Amino acid sequence: MKSYYITSVNGKTAFEPREVAKPQPRAGEMLVRVRAASLNRGEILASISLHQVHEPHPAGGDCAGEVEAVGEGVTAFKPGDAILGRARGSFAEYVVMGAAQAAAKPERLSWEQAAAVPIVSVTAYEAICQYGKLKAGETLLVAGAASGVGVIAVQAGKYLGAKVIGISRSAAKLEKLKASGLDVGIVASGGGFADQVLAATGGKGADVALNLIGGSAFPDLVRSAANQGRIAIIGYVDDRHHAEIDLETVHGKRLQIFGVSNALMTAPQRAEAMRGFARDLLPGFAEGRITPVIDRVFPFAELAAAKAYVESNAQLGKVVVSVA
Ligand SMILES: NC(=O)c1ccc[n+]([C@@H]2O[C@H](COP(=O)([O-])OP(=O)(O)OC[C@H]3O[C@@H](n4cnc5c(N)ncnc54)[C@H](OP(=O)(O)O)[C@@H]3O)[C@@H](O)[C@H]2O)c1
Repeated sequence: MKSYYITSVNGKTAFEPREVAKPQPRAGEMLVRVRAASLNRGEILASISLHQVHEPHPAGGDCAGEVEAVGEGVTAFKPGDAILGRARGSFAEYVVMGAAQAAAKPERLSWEQAAAVPIVSVTAYEAICQYGKLKAGETLLVAGAASGVGVIAVQAGKYLGAKVIGISRSAAKLEKLKASGLDVGIVASGGGFADQVLAATGGKGADVALNLIGGSAFPDLVRSAANQGRIAIIGYVDDRHHAEIDLETVHGKRLQIFGVSNALMTAPQRAEAMRGFARDLLPGFAEGRITPVIDRVFPFAELAAAKAYVESNAQLGKVVVSVA
């Protein structure tokens, strides 16, 4: 079957096409015929040490498709079921997926829309719900609102009854995000947004803040936080892995600062996150209250062009490849 491996050359990642044997599901796994798969920035950001590609390995982290076969002990899904989920090696015609990493595809989503859901939405769920414990009526601040995770976070925040403030370097992207429910858009590159967040919240600040940008945004997120605010460190698109901490503010406001990374998660932790996402956010997709925003769909043969497009930062939301 056709597949891609991810390699690293001179500190830069690349996708390499490879013809490989169709994989076989083991106990607890399913063989999935991939219809569409999405690009995720974390996989191609070679600068994050826990993501470094030491040996070429199967590329892609999530997809949507049909169950072709199930391994021993899988009862939640059967051959023919339409699913979405996380699986290493999803840039391929077939992929093996742990059944605990899959959810039924809502009927109203196309294959491309469904492929855009798993990684970014489970991440948004972990940051906003599982650890951030956002409540209706609170304020969610999304630094990097136009990113794949950011757009879903904006919609999830609205779905959960919060006021949502988003940061982007692009006024045009923020304007488009109003259709996804963004209440307040602030144009900023890195930091420099805290005064505007405080003004937009009557001086109270944001209850939950997501840092998808990195070190350049962190000091302003601390300043923007409400008393007892929760700040999630999720990514570093700015390539800045360090930031200063104003300990007095963290201490005084009793802030909680936590990381959300997939790198060291155990299988039970991943399964718990997927179950929580399916329980708390997936119904929003099924009801049409959360709709994946796809910027562009590339043919499977043009995965390298899709990667270059993601790295250009022109996109709003997700970039997807259509596989079959
Ligand atoms: N579980 C996890 O830990 C997890 C899962 C998924 C993603 N992530 C991380 O979350 C981050 C976002 O991932 P994604 O796939 O959603 O990314 P993405 O869609 O590729 O995000 C791209 C956006 O980031 C913004 N950006 C890029 N460079 C920037 C800079 N120097 N300063 C400020 N903004 C910049 C741009 O938005 P504007 O043009 O609007 O400014 C760009 O459109 C990544 O760092 C990724 O590693 C973590």
